[in-house]
Amino acid sequence: MINIGILDWILLIFALFIIYVNLIYLKKSQSITLIIFECICYALGFARGYNFEVSDLVVTILVFDFLVLWTNQQRPVTFPPGPSPLPIIGNILHLGNGKHTVDVFRSLRKKYGDIFSLSLGPYWVVVVNGKDCLKEIFVKNGEFTSDRPPLYVMNLFQNKGIVSSNGTNWKAQRSFTISKLRQFGFGKRSFESSIIEELKPFLNWIQSYNGQPFALDSILNASTVNSLMQIVVGKRFEYNDENIFDKQIDYFKSEVEEHKKSFDQDNIRDFIDVYLKEMQIQDQNTHTIFKEDQLTCIVNDLISAGTETTATTIRWAIVLLLNNINVQNKMRKEIDVAVGPGRVPTLADRHNMPYSEAVILESLRFGNIGPLSFPHLVTEDFIYKDLYVIPKGSVVIPCLDSVAFDETWFPESNVFKPERFIDEEGKLCNQDKIATFSLGRRVCPGEALARMELFLYLTSMVHRFEFLPVEGEDPPSLEGTKSLANNPLPFKFRAIPREL
Ligand code: HEM
Repeated sequence: MINIGILDWILLIFALFIIYVNLIYLKKSQSITLIIFECICYALGFARGYNFEVSDLVVTILVFDFLVLWTNQQRPVTFPPGPSPLPIIGNILHLGNGKHTVDVFRSLRKKYGDIFSLSLGPYWVVVVNGKDCLKEIFVKNGEFTSDRPPLYVMNLFQNKGIVSSNGTNWKAQRSFTISKLRQFGFGKRSFESSIIEELKPFLNWIQSYNGQPFALDSILNASTVNSLMQIVVGKRFEYNDENIFDKQIDYFKSEVEEHKKSFDQDNIRDFIDVYLKEMQIQDQNTHTIFKEDQLTCIVNDLISAGTETTATTIRWAIVLLLNNINVQNKMRKEIDVAVGPGRVPTLADRHNMPYSEAVILESLRFGNIGPLSFPHLVTEDFIYKDLYVIPKGSVVIPCLDSVAFDETWFPESNVFKPERFIDEEGKLCNQDKIATFSLGRRVCPGEALARMELFLYLTSMVHRFEFLPVEGEDPPSLEGTKSLANNPLPFKFRAIPREL
């Protein structure tokens, strides 16, 4: 009978924990080799007549596993540089020093250059900075860097929809969705009238405050996503429904069910119908990827990705215009000349309003709403500019923040200066310098729609109202939340209706 003391139990539990960590961190083949190696050692020991105590066994497990873990976490010389990782916890402490991740990445870039690596959990994470480096990794080597990592969030949807899917399924669902939405006018001029229809009740809602302080709350989200809702689901969100964005996925599931009941292939009403029709066509194909759960995820992806993003950029623009009244006045003057009284601005006015366009570009840059974009996964080893090997299985982060606040491209990047997008002849320039919509194969498919909406919403708002801070208060803070999404801090302001 083996006599196990309290210390043995503690060691045993610790060893089991280390084995568990090894199973997570190491490749399956590495873990199995390690376990077989340890078993052989003990077998040889027993065969030679050693009388192992429990603590001997446990301590050897600990030493072996620890060593393997530690060597595995050492940065190979061919990797991009970065801070030295500690065993098991890797570089987690570098992120947890109380600063925002974006600030940590800014200082690591200063120290290690445009491309650096970190060991985080079971992954090597490569952070990519600067427009040139981003292009090299996500455009030139896009065939190796366009998957999503199998993180928990992504696993929730198990390769379904667009945002969280990979490989051939992602390609097929993304291109099918974009091409079919275009047939409904998505991102095209013909879509303008439905955005303007949505704008009217929104402007009236602002007017109803009659110059009193108010916040741009979820009504803005509902308004900006409603034109997309019309072509995707065939319905709008009602402004008075406070919980419209709760339980979204259940709502879309029930919408798909409703559409199935009333489906008529000779009367295609919206994107859900288009997809249901494709499912019918592919019905006999056993390998079809057009399935109901995919459809629900695509609808959820489109509406989620299209809601918060455009609305947050509008909030940022208002924060910036409240802090820069001279810019607001200059923009309003341009709109008054180009549009005049009696009508709302339209896309046809765009070429007469370069300053307003510049204000929008600068708001996209300064607002920096997705500073770290979404993570990508490397699917094959590849060589970066003959300098580093980026290994298969690494997570790559497109650090879009590094473009928005790049001092060489945008001098005085912490200052809101729409003039940086206007050339000497007064024309719009430098549009391609921003990377707010990311780049490469995963580039945001909603960019054209978002830009149309930003133009129509912001110019109509500035045309119809004068925006002022709450009386006796400072303008809202220019500090954002700087988390994975950079939102402005909650704020109230006044919209004084103009006599037009
Ligand atoms: C100001 C507004 C917007 C900004 C700044 C923005 C930005 C982004 C960014 C940074 C990405 C990640 C790209 C990557 O993985 O590297 C993305 C992806 C995506 N966006 Fe947008 N977006 C905006 C509006 C929209 C709208 C209106 C839609 C509506 C259709 C949309 C749909 C999507 C989808 C479906 C993806 C996932 C693409 C994929 O994984 O293949 N976005 N967006």
